[in-house]
Amino acid sequence: MNTIKLPDYRLQSADVKQRFDKLKQRPIELSVEGLGKVFRGKKDVESLRDINLEVHNREFLIVLGASGCGKSTLMRILAGFETPSSGVAKLQGNEIHGAGPDRGMVFQSYTLFPWLTAKQNVMFGLEMTVGKGAETESEALQWLSFVGLERFADSYPHQLSGGMKQRVAIARALANKPRILLMDEPFGALDAQSRAQMQSLLLQIWSKVDITIIFITHDLDEAVYLSDRILVLEPNPGRIAELIENPVARPRSLDQFLQPEFLAVKKRLEKLIHPRMDEEQAPVFKMTKKGDEVE
Ligand SMILES: Nc1ncnc2c1ncn2[C@@H]1O[C@H](COP(=O)(O)OP(=O)(O)OP(=O)(O)O)[C@@H](O)[C@H]1O
Ligand SMILES: [Mg+2]
Repeated sequence: MNTIKLPDYRLQSADVKQRFDKLKQRPIELSVEGLGKVFRGKKDVESLRDINLEVHNREFLIVLGASGCGKSTLMRILAGFETPSSGVAKLQGNEIHGAGPDRGMVFQSYTLFPWLTAKQNVMFGLEMTVGKGAETESEALQWLSFVGLERFADSYPHQLSGGMKQRVAIARALANKPRILLMDEPFGALDAQSRAQMQSLLLQIWSKVDITIIFITHDLDEAVYLSDRILVLEPNPGRIAELIENPVARPRSLDQFLQPEFLAVKKRLEKLIHPRMDEEQAPVFKMTKKGDEVE
């Protein structure tokens, strides 16, 4: 069988090296030092062990790894919903204690308030920081138009598609002007076409707003298409397997999906998160008759 020879994803052209040198010179927005998390119970679960990481201002960091490797735990610690068992997480040098308006969140499950319109959902957070009033309403409308939904300002969540709901959720998160956007599989429940649209929209938003993004996904194409760097975790306990500097040029376009650098990173991710299972290890009994093997 002929296989295409792909470049080494670690070899950086002068342009790519310059891009990452520049990124690393930006101020550190978020740092994680020796972070660990053990859930105590009848049987303790060590969800994360010794995670060390620095995320720079306006970086787009993808977190990827097999199910159960601690991605959401890490996100919940950064959001301030969980406390670490060891180590610290810091935002602009200050240790994270509890939730705060400096972090916006978008999750896979739609989290809009069903009894509020799109506009009211965006206003909800703003009312807590800016207060009620015409100014808040016009700001909410601006954010909705920013995500292309001004026409749906008075629609309720059940009248919106999955992609539209996530656009409202993004507008709501950004309206509070957070430093960091924490996204836990935000497009995981969308069909392939809506998902591709949302990915492009997110890249446009990110290029126009002073925001650092941490984004969890299982989808390898999504990881390579969106990221500056990709943090790959391995399970039991959740540890850093590799931190990949994505060499694919920006701005991104769908044409890049077949470029050698794109495929090279994807192949590496595949290897890291889906180690090959030998036939003897596969947990499936053979239930076919001799002689009727498939290719
Ligand atoms: N509140 C909790 N109490 C006990 N164990 C937990 C709790 N939350 C997570 N865990 C355990 O921690 C480990 C990591 O879970 P986590 O949800 O962070 O994984 P994940 O990488 O986000 O998985 P997925 O890709 O399926 O979303 C799992 O073994 C899980 O059972
Ligand atoms: Mg998760």
